[in-house]
Amino acid sequence: MKVGIIGQGYVGLTIAAFAAEYFEIVGFDSNEKVVQQLNQGISHIEGIDSSVLSSRIKSGMYKATSYGEDLGKSDVIIIAVPTPLSKDRQPDLSFIDLACKTIGQSLSKPALIINESTSFPGTLRKFIKPAIEKYSASPINHLYAISPERVDPGRTDFNQKNTPRLFSGLTTEASVRTREFYSRFCDNLVEVSSPEVAEAAKLFENTFRQVNIALVNEFAQIAHSLGISVYETLDAANTKPYGFMKFTPSAGVGGHCIPVDPTYLAVVAEEHGAPATFIRRANEVNLDMSKYIVNRIAADNGGSLKGKSVLVVGVAYKPNVADVRETAAELVIEHLRSQGAAVSWHDDVVGNWKGESSVLLQGADIAVVVTKHDSVEEKKILASAPYVFDTTGKVKGAKGL
Ligand SMILES: NC(=O)c1ccc[n+]([C@@H]2O[C@H](COP(=O)([O-])OP(=O)(O)OC[C@H]3O[C@@H](n4cnc5c(N)ncnc54)[C@H](O)[C@@H]3O)[C@@H](O)[C@H]2O)c1
Repeated sequence: MKVGIIGQGYVGLTIAAFAAEYFEIVGFDSNEKVVQQLNQGISHIEGIDSSVLSSRIKSGMYKATSYGEDLGKSDVIIIAVPTPLSKDRQPDLSFIDLACKTIGQSLSKPALIINESTSFPGTLRKFIKPAIEKYSASPINHLYAISPERVDPGRTDFNQKNTPRLFSGLTTEASVRTREFYSRFCDNLVEVSSPEVAEAAKLFENTFRQVNIALVNEFAQIAHSLGISVYETLDAANTKPYGFMKFTPSAGVGGHCIPVDPTYLAVVAEEHGAPATFIRRANEVNLDMSKYIVNRIAADNGGSLKGKSVLVVGVAYKPNVADVRETAAELVIEHLRSQGAAVSWHDDVVGNWKGESSVLLQGADIAVVVTKHDSVEEKKILASAPYVFDTTGKVKGAKGL
């Protein structure tokens, strides 16, 4: 079976590396530099070892390409392209549209087309299928299905094999073929009654996290105002063996999913006249966390940050990855600079970001820990400035939430 995967980023390459043990994979990406690197056996994604990629290439089970015609013989096509928000914070399906164009223009025989990109309910039925039909030179009876991806980059305990996978086809035949395909490398397949349920479930999973993170971020502010430790209180609440799940406070949410997916749900809810109050408010609380933290730091430092050298420690959106998409560090830096601080940052996992480079972990007036990678030693953080504010709860001896 030949499988084409459109988009070779976190999702597409992860699935390619797993599935190449069983199927012949063509990884299609519009970024030629990425394609070139991949064909040299160099992985750009945490969790995908270059050695695994190289062995898949050597065995003839994987190749990357930027040419649509290389997808022409595919029996299965997976769509794994970005689904960001536009400048006015609306769902942006332009990458999906381009992927549909590639499929429409490259495939001349029927295939099973599975969307793994996250989007709102109705995307497969009302957007992807019509778009592929529009771009195809002649009518082809493709099968269509959705199977939202749940990968958590950098995580080792859950992977493609042991993470339950939701799926649903637009037709019974599409569902049957989708089950057959994934069952080769995934142990637990969960079929739902319609693609819309699968699409909505994925959005709700991430909305659940977003709302609970906002709640604990708000609670961190309440605990501080009451003069009690938020961490001790959460640990105490977490001794209840049922009905409680512990989330921890932070400088805000980041990455491709939690700050973005809930807005997809809110927009579609509001279009249908349903409220999305929690989702909208949770987004505001999480975004405001950076301002709250900077104000706390200013208050601890004589009320002003003017002229102070401030070192932000960790700018990736989460530990041990180089991903800076939607990172809370961006807003923290923005607020620090707007209060007159001279800001630099240390993050050797990220290295370069927005035209700036990681600096040494030393010599600042103030250090703010936004993300704590395992490779960064606590004692070095504590020695980097006379005042250290930790937003992660991992640096003992620092000031914090
Ligand atoms: N990263 C995650 O942890 C994660 C988890 C679950 C779901 N998702 C969802 O999966 C989808 C993909 O996310 P990602 O993190 O893999 O994105 P990514 O940015 O890491 O990778 C996307 C890749 O697609 C390529 N691309 C963009 N448009 C293309 C096109 N028209 N044709 C071919 N290639 C194209 C880009 O060059 C890039 O290499 C999104 O909908 C995201 O919300 C992501």
